[in-house]
Amino acid sequence: MRLYVNIDHVATVRQARRTDEPDPVRAAVLVELGGADGITVHLREDRRHIQDRDVDLLMRTVRTGVNLELAAASEVLELAVKWRPMQATLVPESREEVTTEGGLALGSEESRRGLAAALQRLGGAGIRTSLFIDPDPDAIRASVDLGTDAIELHTGEYANTRGLERSTQLDRLRRAAALGRSLGVAVHAGHGLTYENVAPLAAVPEIEELNIGHSVVSRAVFVGLERAVREMADLLRRARPPAR
Ligand code: PXP
Repeated sequence: MRLYVNIDHVATVRQARRTDEPDPVRAAVLVELGGADGITVHLREDRRHIQDRDVDLLMRTVRTGVNLELAAASEVLELAVKWRPMQATLVPESREEVTTEGGLALGSEESRRGLAAALQRLGGAGIRTSLFIDPDPDAIRASVDLGTDAIELHTGEYANTRGLERSTQLDRLRRAAALGRSLGVAVHAGHGLTYENVAPLAAVPEIEELNIGHSVVSRAVFVGLERAVREMADLLRRARPPAR
């Protein structure tokens, strides 16, 4: 199980004043020291948090790997091809949303064609590809048909529910992860995961990577970033001890 920490919200604090602190590039060093397996950033078309300069510097300083989230139809695609991060995750994007609200729309021929072209462009540049999708069988099959290396299952509905409904959503994610693996793609997951809700998901054997941002950066305000990452990494390790 790999822990990728999304540091967008370090940049959100910086952009609140449009100054040069806190610097997400410095944050990435602490995230790596805390034991994360990689750094995730979303370069949005509206540049509301992460800036081109950040990705440019992260590409030169991150020692683990950079997972760049981007919209397929944006000019960020060409930047990704230039930067060649270890992984690129295609996500839906709209200017109105506070955060990525759902998985990619795979129902229409037009959107599938756009995603296929983006996957080809990224894969051709040697970048590992992932599609952020809802944990639904149709979306998983459509993603596999498009030729992605990995899928990232949207965990928002799991995170936003409680009690019985959360168990239902966990089962849905378990089935989705098993289906993805059986069809030959790597399975990642993320969105809305916290110290409180991550363990059951981290225990799902088919999930090999979690992307977690807001909760880790929030905790970092109180305990520091390195410790916040270490605590999350420990939770993942305890949920699924390494095979002997
Ligand atoms: N995965 C994807 C594809 C995302 O877009 C985000 C949010 O930017 C995350 C994971 C992390 O979500 P959160 O910040 O809620 O942990």
